Amino acid sequence: MEGPEVLLSLNSRGLLAFEHLRLHKDTQAQADGAEVKESVDGDQQQDEGKKDEDGESEKEEDGLWEETFKSHTDTKPNGPTSISLDFSLPGVEHVYGIPEHADDLKLKTTDGGDPYRLYNLDVFQYELYNPMALYGSIPVMLAHNTQRTMGIFWLNAAETWVDINFVQGSSEKPQTDVRWISESGIIDVFIMLGPKPSKVFSQYASLTGTQSFPPLASLGYHQCRWNYNDQEDVKSVDQGFDQHDIPYDFIWLDIEHADGKRYFTWDPHKFPQPKEMLQGLMDKRRKMVSIVDPHIRVDSGYKIHNEITSKDFYVKNKDGKNYEGWCWPGNSGYPDFTKPEMRAWWASMFAYDQYEGSMENLFTWNDMNEPSVFNGPEVTMHKDALHGKWEHRDIHNIYGLYVQMATAEGQIQRSGGVERPFVLTRAFFAGSQRYGAVWTGDNAAEWDHLKISIPMCLSLGLVGVSFCGADVGGFFKNPSTELLVRWYQTGAYQPFFRAHAHLDTTRREPWLFGPENTALIREVIRQRYALLPYWYQLFYQAHKTGMPVMRPLWVDYPKDTATFTIDDEFLIESLHPSHTKLCKSLSLFKKTILYFRLIYFNCVFFFFFFKIPVFQRGGSIIPRKDRVRRSSTCMENDPYTLYVALSPKKFAEGELYIDDGHSFNYDTKKEFIHRSLTFANNALTSRYLYSSVLYLSIVWHANLLMISQTGKETPVDFEFDTSMSVLTLRKPGMNAGADWTLLLQ
Ligand code: GLC
Repeated sequence: MEGPEVLLSLNSRGLLAFEHLRLHKDTQAQADGAEVKESVDGDQQQDEGKKDEDGESEKEEDGLWEETFKSHTDTKPNGPTSISLDFSLPGVEHVYGIPEHADDLKLKTTDGGDPYRLYNLDVFQYELYNPMALYGSIPVMLAHNTQRTMGIFWLNAAETWVDINFVQGSSEKPQTDVRWISESGIIDVFIMLGPKPSKVFSQYASLTGTQSFPPLASLGYHQCRWNYNDQEDVKSVDQGFDQHDIPYDFIWLDIEHADGKRYFTWDPHKFPQPKEMLQGLMDKRRKMVSIVDPHIRVDSGYKIHNEITSKDFYVKNKDGKNYEGWCWPGNSGYPDFTKPEMRAWWASMFAYDQYEGSMENLFTWNDMNEPSVFNGPEVTMHKDALHGKWEHRDIHNIYGLYVQMATAEGQIQRSGGVERPFVLTRAFFAGSQRYGAVWTGDNAAEWDHLKISIPMCLSLGLVGVSFCGADVGGFFKNPSTELLVRWYQTGAYQPFFRAHAHLDTTRREPWLFGPENTALIREVIRQRYALLPYWYQLFYQAHKTGMPVMRPLWVDYPKDTATFTIDDEFLIESLHPSHTKLCKSLSLFKKTILYFRLIYFNCVFFFFFFKIPVFQRGGSIIPRKDRVRRSSTCMENDPYTLYVALSPKKFAEGELYIDDGHSFNYDTKKEFIHRSLTFANNALTSRYLYSSVLYLSIVWHANLLMISQTGKETPVDFEFDTSMSVLTLRKPGMNAGADWTLLLQ
């Protein structure tokens, strides 16, 4: 390379702008009496003077000090406050990120259309392939070319718009121009220089934190619907899973479980004995999630409302009174989660003696935290509502993050700081990854919605949020049986795996569509369970390094331009699931297989168990637990099976991570096993990577018939499938935490 290279320039299009805070002219007049303003703002006065001469003042000020939207008026006490800056990226043709949008992974030009909008909103039946705002906002964009990956983090929680233009830069270099505009706040930008994708992920993680390490069980399958009607219903669904030999870990209760949508309570008729219900699940080593939304029913008979009122924790309207709006319970107040004291109080409400009927296998779902206000502008909070001194306008996009933060903290506290929390959120912001999982909101039972779930989760993964999923089956409408089965087959390979459905849909538990379809769904859920050790290990990696769990192909093949626009396929590190129907036609499907075999995976391992193939990359070792049981917890002491897929050079490597699956002891007491696995020179070796537990070193030799551990030789049961070149060694009886070598002679 000759000389220094420009990677990024700021303000090269001169779009840096910020509006200084000013006083409204009436307020100013009051403050100054009749005096002519002299000192505050010469330029501003000159402009206004000019306008006055033209008689245009009133007109030009339209919208500057007050805006109307339908029946809503936004009083803008500080007038216009927007900020903006442009960035030019020479040599860049591919940009990604800035979720949440129901759109392709590669961001499109906004030239001639609307910019991508970041403003957390409860959108009814969202449109696809559209830059419109959805439930969450992460103002982070990644730029990628064959030489480098970079990131721009625009730290601003106000409504934000992003314009993208692909242009020809100087010396015929392609270039991407980006402009960020926020309604208020300051310009606070972080540039992450990479150069490798993994570097950008760790640089961003150093700013906002990494994905929380979830309890292992939360990576299993979740069964949800709006609503499981009562305790009997919960019991029969739970039994249905056993009758049909389908594992699951969590059953969910939506808003109808609470007494009159008063969260932290139970409907006394439908759920009279919540502890009995939870104990029944616990006996089967299963868990439950109940919904706790952040709108609080205004009701003087409701403890939560009374305490928030007496502690003065509600968001205020512009006149300083408690802000009220309509949501599920009717008239509701909105706790001010931006206040640390409010969050601490909320967290304390999850204590077992506060949240009556709760037990340690009850976890939480935070919904409607954009926040959703049915009668508010765009179904959200008025921008001139107040959080202490701050207007809602300034903090809107981070409100939902604070709800999940406080809830996760509550779960940690109720266990005395020992247990990891599990909280699902709909709204999110940069950093939300630290508090749990995210889902893509109210999708529909349509093929295109299944398809878009892939780029939506990939976009989130690129900007830190690995624990993402979409409602399996689609929330609105009834899926065809084929769509439902295909959705299970896709969802089983996405990080957060939960079926969910709208109140008005017909029931769709996995066994309601005939034995053949039950078998297909059973098979794919069981595959998910067999792979849980691998998912768990990838989450540990995400937690430690910021590396996404579900990755677009270009992250692993950053120099291969053919991967840069692929977003209907993805990698779970060394696994590549292929979805026939998503490939539209069989010939395209076959092409995909060939593509992967020849170009990327070269030597592959197929799991052809359930009509969709899953490829394992040649050169990788994947830990599984092939004996699938009722729930992940039931499998905790089962043996691991290592799947070794050799590269053309007969090499493979991988890892094995094991801990108790639910506590913070891996961190606080360093109680875990982390091994590196290598296959080279016909020997498979397990070595210490990190472990606090000391094991005696065992050398394990096998000449396909015998193993020897500390000198004693014992026969090994093995099978060799010549057609697939698969060698299976059964029950070798090795200790996962020990050093050992397996020699093939
Ligand atoms: C929202 C959620 C949905 C939930 C419903 C009732 O629409 O997105 O998942 O079922 O509210 O709580």
